[in-house]
Amino acid sequence: MSHERKNELNHERKKLAVLISGRGSNMVALAAAVADGRVPGAEIALVLSDRADAPGRSLASERGIETLAVERLGRAREEHEREIVAALTEREIDLVCLAGFMRLLSPAFVGALSGRILNIHPSLLPAFPGLDAQRQAIEHGVKFSGCTVHFVDETLDGGAIIAQRVVALKDDDTPATLAARILTQEHEAYAEAVALVLSGDYELAGRRVVRRGAALRSDV
Ligand code: GAR
Repeated sequence: MSHERKNELNHERKKLAVLISGRGSNMVALAAAVADGRVPGAEIALVLSDRADAPGRSLASERGIETLAVERLGRAREEHEREIVAALTEREIDLVCLAGFMRLLSPAFVGALSGRILNIHPSLLPAFPGLDAQRQAIEHGVKFSGCTVHFVDETLDGGAIIAQRVVALKDDDTPATLAARILTQEHEAYAEAVALVLSGDYELAGRRVVRRGAALRSDV
C-alpha cells in the first residue's frame, strides 16, 4: 500500500477523545478495544483530564496517545469548558467519551457537541444517577445493578441508553467489591457502545436506541 493511500485511510478514521478525572481504566479498555479491532475505524486522538495529576494520563502516554490536562481547580466552569471545547474542535474530534470524568457538563457544552458525547455510569440507569452509584445500589437493597453507556444530554445521567450490563449483588458486597465486578462489565459495554455509535447502525426512536435490523432478528 502506498504511503499516500495509508494516510488517506488514517484520515478516514473517526477520532475519539476520552475525558477522564482519575484512574482511567475505561480509557485503557477503550484503547485496547480500538487496538484489537473491536471498535473498527476509530482512533483515540486525545485523552483529556481535568486534573493534571490524574493517574490515567500516564497510562495514555504509555500507549502513545496525546494527553492534555485542562485543570479545573480555581476556574469558572464556563471558561474551563470553553477551553475543553476548543481543544476538541482543534483536533476535529468526532466522538467524546466521558470515562470517569467527574464533572456535570453545562447545556452549552452539550449543545456544542450535540449527540456526540457518551458517558458510562456504574448503575442500571435510571436507577442511582449521580455520585456513589454502587453504594446507593447496596443501600437500596437491589438484587441486580450494573452499568450503562448513554448519550449525554442536559440532564444528570439521563440521556438515551446505548448499552447496559447486569451484575448480581452478593449479600456481603461492599461498594468496593460491587464496583470491581461492575467495572469489568463497563470495560466491555463501553467498547460495544462506541462501536455501535461509530457504525451509525442504529436509529433513535424517541429515547430508544434501536440497532438497525434488531426488529427483524427478534421476529425470528
Ligand atoms: C467508573 O466506574 C465509571 O463508571 C464511574 O467512574 C469510574 C471511573 O473509573 N463514573 C461515574 O460514576 C460517573 N457518574 P475509571 O477511571 O477507571 O474508568
